[in-house]
Amino acid sequence: MRNFQFYNPTKLIFGKGSLDALSAEVPKYGKNVLLLYGGGSIKRSGLYDKVTSLLQSIGANVTELAGVEPNPRLSTVHKGVDLCRSNGIELILAVGGGSVLDCGKAIAVGAKYEGDMWDFVERKAAPQGALPLGTVLTMAATGSEMNNGSVITNEATQEKMGWGSPHTFPVFSILDPEHTFSVPRDQTVYGVVDMMTHVLEHYFHTDGNTPVQDGFCEALLRTMMDAGSKLVNDLENYELRETILYCGTMALNGMVSMGFAGDWATHNIEHSVSAVYDIPHGGGLAILFPQWMKYNLDAGPERFRKLAVNVFGVDPSGKTDREAGLEGIEALRGFWNSIGAPARLADYEIDGSHIDDMADKAVRFGPFGNFRKLQREDVVEIYKMSL
Ligand code: NZQ
Ligand code: ZN
Repeated sequence: MRNFQFYNPTKLIFGKGSLDALSAEVPKYGKNVLLLYGGGSIKRSGLYDKVTSLLQSIGANVTELAGVEPNPRLSTVHKGVDLCRSNGIELILAVGGGSVLDCGKAIAVGAKYEGDMWDFVERKAAPQGALPLGTVLTMAATGSEMNNGSVITNEATQEKMGWGSPHTFPVFSILDPEHTFSVPRDQTVYGVVDMMTHVLEHYFHTDGNTPVQDGFCEALLRTMMDAGSKLVNDLENYELRETILYCGTMALNGMVSMGFAGDWATHNIEHSVSAVYDIPHGGGLAILFPQWMKYNLDAGPERFRKLAVNVFGVDPSGKTDREAGLEGIEALRGFWNSIGAPARLADYEIDGSHIDDMADKAVRFGPFGNFRKLQREDVVEIYKMSL
């Protein structure tokens, strides 16, 4: 293992009825609240009414910013920053999926910074502080509810990039599985794919002696597949929603990834696709991850074999590591396709016309990936394999 420090200050409030905790949590930070949400799902589900009446009952002054886009945009972040400044906001309350939460993180640091918060995304500056952010998560996918990461799209330059800071962990996150009942089947699938790829990004590392971490990752993957395959046909099953919600948080809150550096190339490769084509993150990953795996199989076939055997039940007898590993990749792809995830970029009507542009964006900060360093030509190849 590598030496590590683990830090995660988010208070996680999980379970049926946990929304009531808002009454105790919000007043800790002040009265002036920016209520941030997406395109209207929380109004349709009734969650908006519950949140606003709880805020009213504790005498909060609520300013609203609605319409955070899936793949949240910098222009929306700017609107939020302006609202925070003009209304003396003391707490941002993000109610929604990963996009709303990520937008909340960007507004939180932008409100404490004189320049444009995009400077943080471009690594031109580092946040020195942030407004507190509380969240009510409505969709299991990104893990944003208990990590400090955020992904923002600059629509003017067609760039989509991840960034983070020790200041951007939510101060609290409320997770009630019932709030995810209304997530439609396709978004449920994207969420399961996304959380599985978070575990896979961890899993492909080259650090030694991580038996506990490997086991955590394998257990998460097996559980996500088991619960996910049932959930897509039973969307209001409380126990399945509960399991998947917990899995999504655990996949990317740092708990299963201490002491090693995961790969994370495919996320970068996907962000460049959704920057240009505005496709769902999980859909892009379902297409790209198996191709990244095939392209990098020879960089460490024993790792692929371990995954194939321990997660997909591949029988390795009489097979080389490479052969067993390849069976695992096919099993993963088969599983994602079986629950309705896309398999090719063509499924989103994406052809090869922007590959150069997407590859340029992906290598913007240089070669990347910890399992195997990818150069620009590798990225081009993976895009071509995914068409
Ligand atoms: O906007 P509304 O109307 O709320 O609808 C959303 C949106 O259309 C809908 N939805 C969410 N909860 C719902 C619901 N519909 C019905 N009922 C509910 N309970 O689902 C759609 C997608 O929402 P979004 O927030 O975009 O999805 P997700 O949670 O997958 O977030 C995706 C974003 O997170 C980034 C992605 O790149 C993408 O921009 N990521 C963030 C990460 C992080 N912060 O750690 C890591 C991830 O790898 C990822 O890159
Ligand atoms: Zn992801």
